[in-house]
Amino acid sequence: MANSESARMNKAEYWDERYQSADDPPPREWHLGYDQLEGYLQEHVYPHWPADASIMHPGAGSSHLPLEMRKRGGYTNITCAEFSPAVIAQMQPLDPDIKWLQCDVRDMSASGVGSDSFDVVFDKACFEALCGWGPKHLLKEIPDVIVMDTRRYSQEAYRILKPGGWFVIITVFEARYVHHLLKCEGTNWEDVHAPKALSADGWMQTRSFCLRKPANQTTQNND
Ligand SMILES: C[S@@+](CC[C@H](N)C(=O)[O-])C[C@H]1O[C@@H](n2cnc3c(N)ncnc32)[C@H](O)[C@@H]1O
Repeated sequence: MANSESARMNKAEYWDERYQSADDPPPREWHLGYDQLEGYLQEHVYPHWPADASIMHPGAGSSHLPLEMRKRGGYTNITCAEFSPAVIAQMQPLDPDIKWLQCDVRDMSASGVGSDSFDVVFDKACFEALCGWGPKHLLKEIPDVIVMDTRRYSQEAYRILKPGGWFVIITVFEARYVHHLLKCEGTNWEDVHAPKALSADGWMQTRSFCLRKPANQTTQNND
């Protein structure tokens, strides 16, 4: 991917163009789909969260993961957060029981998302978009804009989670980048489990990370 394209990935206009382009028609599933993730979900996520847990999918895009988590996982309280109106218009009609919120995940308070309001924030490849995707996992020096964007995102995920809530990240980035960028100031993430490999070894290996907001920590008082 060209550097100029990668630099635009933190802009809604870039994603609107992509979702409206005939060259890249939806549905588009990044990394793994529900079938490949189901084993991980059933072993490591579902047993911990009841069907009425409030789940936020930041940067949900045209993934069918939230639809399948509702249909096959039985979850009834799913919110997809997106800043691309084009993909919201495409996806919203597919399941009227899923809520869609047009917002920037770097500042969800601007769209009225309250502190301590979700049990789980479940990210699949939204983190990458904030990192400009690309082979950034090979970079020795991470550009300031990526450090800033991912810090704001991590702080927002932390703010909107209830005490004890989970931040699950499905990504191809290595642990040293994920931890370096997301375990930032203004957060106090704990690891729920060590990173798990979800696909075959290689430079595009998909992994899951699971972070927890400590159970004794609320952010409501800081609003
Ligand atoms: C790489 S795609 C992943 C889509 C989907 N989660 C999947 O796994 O197939 C990244 C998505 O995040 C959205 N996105 C990127 N930055 C965002 C931001 N700051 N706020 C809200 N959505 C964002 C994009 O519009 C895009 O749909």
